[in-house]
Amino acid sequence: MLDLFADEEPWQEPLAPGAVVLRRFALAKTQALLAGIEAVTQLSPLRHMVTPGGYTMSVAMTNCGEVGWTTDARGYLYSGIDPQTGNPWPAIPDAFAALCHDAAVAADYADFRPDACLINRYVPGAKLSLHQDKDEPDLRAPIVSVSLGLPAVFQFGGLKRNDPLQRLMLEHGDVVVWGGASRLFYHGVLPLKPGHHPATGACRFNLTFRQARKIE
Ligand code: SIN
Ligand code: FE2
Repeated sequence: MLDLFADEEPWQEPLAPGAVVLRRFALAKTQALLAGIEAVTQLSPLRHMVTPGGYTMSVAMTNCGEVGWTTDARGYLYSGIDPQTGNPWPAIPDAFAALCHDAAVAADYADFRPDACLINRYVPGAKLSLHQDKDEPDLRAPIVSVSLGLPAVFQFGGLKRNDPLQRLMLEHGDVVVWGGASRLFYHGVLPLKPGHHPATGACRFNLTFRQARKIE
């Protein structure tokens, strides 16, 4: 398929110690990434998870990889089984792994070996409150986050919830990588504004790659 977005050259913007925005880094791989999302969601459909506090999340989620991020009455956890299907999560598509590898190298985390990828889908109004990604036992590995489709305002703060927030618009093809000194920095996504994107229609997808199991 003709890729309408492949002609813009990527560039980098430093975000915080250990964190960088790779603008348009995934642009040329849009079609393969969307095909990967389609393949994964056929096997493990997007669903609105319920937090341990009983709140239904506005973002729809699924996973691929050896483990996936999910919730149950115990709290937030990584599980090898999709609780909705009872099956293992689908494997990480090759196009996902290749893109993540290239982004990790570009961001100076060449050793990153993700074993989990959370897929988020935002429709207008969907948001992700300020949080830390802290359910991973080994915090030496970074987070690699890929944005596709409609733009969203990403908030990136510090180690404390009330640290000042940077606000940046993440657009189609942007990749954010955070690790090292900023691995536990608070972040979130403001409510998605309605719109239409030629690649995804009325929504935004985000892929976050994590190393969720301890490396021996
Ligand atoms: C996340 O924090 O898991 C997702 C961030 C995003 O959607 O950009
Ligand atoms: Fe997060």
